[in-house]
Amino acid sequence: MRSLLFIPADSEKKLAKGFASGADCLILDLEDSVAPEAKQKAREQARAFLADAVPVSPRPRLYVRVNGLKSGLTEADLCAVMPASPDGVLLPKCHNGAAIQHLGAMLVVKEAQHDLADGATRIIAIVTETAASIFSMGTYAGASRRLEGLTWGAEDLAACLGAETNRDAGGGYSFPYLLARSLTLFAAASAGALAIDAVHGKFRDLAGLRLECEVAKRDGFAGKMAIHPAQIEIINKIFTPSNESIAKARAIVAAFEAEPKAGVICLNGEMLDLPNLTKARRLLAGYRET
Ligand code: COA
Ligand code: MG
Repeated sequence: MRSLLFIPADSEKKLAKGFASGADCLILDLEDSVAPEAKQKAREQARAFLADAVPVSPRPRLYVRVNGLKSGLTEADLCAVMPASPDGVLLPKCHNGAAIQHLGAMLVVKEAQHDLADGATRIIAIVTETAASIFSMGTYAGASRRLEGLTWGAEDLAACLGAETNRDAGGGYSFPYLLARSLTLFAAASAGALAIDAVHGKFRDLAGLRLECEVAKRDGFAGKMAIHPAQIEIINKIFTPSNESIAKARAIVAAFEAEPKAGVICLNGEMLDLPNLTKARRLLAGYRET
């Protein structure tokens, strides 16, 4: 999953633009982009959208962002959308691995009620939205086989900290948010989940988006969330491995296969050992023809 586009589910007009955006995943939002008085409308529209969209093939993956477990709204969100079997649920304000298990327990009941396979509904969690969540980053490994990805955000965290801004004078993230970002990467890798980068909120700033995508890809993020359709093309392009890197990964795998007993090999003047083989296999496993 390279690109994940948020769509406020109370907006019929935006929902109608989802498929054409080219995003790998649409996140129908019931949380922060929807005002309290519009929650019920958003739930109903999300369900109707899913009912139409799930049977379409090919289609993007379809996730729903529910309201957080402490909001008191999660159960009603799930009651509304689970009959239409979304591919997954995005859990905001996730504090730790136990919260993933809590959501998993809610999902297993809904799956049974609606004749869905046990465990069919995957989970992506936003894991940096409160100060407390930063101290639980080691708890995601083994939390649930539903866990597909971890992502982060700097806006709610800044609000929680009482920060004036989350940016430094040069426009980049300041240290507390770079720490949260790095911990998300480590937590995702330790849990065997995808690391997904935060949204770039300035949606007209495509040069800034490109830069954030390049840095994120370099560091190991698999993709990035988006808030506007204009961001998708850039995200998809940057998170698609280049032909050159695919060819190189294939050459590395082939070279190790040709020498199955070797721990270290030499390819085009470069020393390669197990970490290089692991990286090459990872790239090829995550890559799909588009
Ligand atoms: N999904 C689908 N369509 C979207 C969209 C989105 N996230 N964001 C904008 N569009 C549509 C608009 O409706 C508009 O359609 P139109 O041409 O038929 O009028 C078109 O794309 C161009 O939009 P634009 O006028 O450039 O932006 P806007 O002022 O309408 O919307 C935002 C700006 C930020 C309000 C909007 O992009 C948005 O709602 N984003 C998602 C916010 C969100 O979910 N936040 C929570 C996660 S952080
Ligand atoms: Mg938020």
